[in-house]
Amino acid sequence: MDLKGRIKNAERVAVLTGAGISAESGIPTFRGADGLWKQFRAEELATPQAFQRDPKLVWEWYDWRRQKCAQAVPNPGHLALAELERIAPHFTLITQNVDGLHALAGSKHILELHGNIWRMRCVACEAMQESREPLGGELPHCDCGALMRPDIVWFGEALPQQVLSEAFSCARSAEVFLSVGTSAWVMPACQLPVVAKQSGAYVVEVNLEKTPISEMVDEAHHRKAGEILPSLLGVEI
Ligand code: APR
Repeated sequence: MDLKGRIKNAERVAVLTGAGISAESGIPTFRGADGLWKQFRAEELATPQAFQRDPKLVWEWYDWRRQKCAQAVPNPGHLALAELERIAPHFTLITQNVDGLHALAGSKHILELHGNIWRMRCVACEAMQESREPLGGELPHCDCGALMRPDIVWFGEALPQQVLSEAFSCARSAEVFLSVGTSAWVMPACQLPVVAKQSGAYVVEVNLEKTPISEMVDEAHHRKAGEILPSLLGVEI
């Protein structure tokens, strides 16, 4: 049975997305040819130590990324997944992305593994704030007086436990699991398609390049997500 047929018959569908699904919206990936980690050093910007050492530099980088994300709109890949959620009885979108484009596209049941670039968290009292305003060079502070940090999971930090365990239980119970736009390198997210496959799901990868899971999946499509997802999933966007 082809993917469209499997989706029609599936009770539970889960999707894992990475930076590649936002590439066609103009947001750079991390490890592609013009990836962020080619231009910047992750350990200088995306770690608690970097923030401790130079919070102004880290916020300048995140403000630049926020402004790039603010100019981006959902592409047909995001829209196709939002439409898929309307068809599947039980649907979960697990994303490594922090750009908020899945929510803008209309997806509802979203598990954000790595946080959200529009949220910031107080380093002292953990109060949260959400805003899409440019920071204008100011270091954001909490009402309690302490510094705010991006609500992003940095290298060396634990992922939100509740979100992670829900993501793995969705991978274990999915009948169809899609891995879209991720290099499938970064733990623990890259384990999700493997767990889905081991649990009997039909696993499909849509990623421009081959990845460590490409040999393991039932279908691997090395194409642009925005170009192929609507027809592959059989959804009208
Ligand atoms: N359609 C599909 N795939 C694409 C497209 C596209 N239009 N453009 C790029 N890709 C693929 C690339 O080939 C690459 O394999 O998307 C993948 C993106 O991989 P990464 O840049 O490694 O991003 P991601 O997998 O999301 O990284 C995971 O690493 O740095 C951390 O926290 C960061 O969430 C991120 C995590």
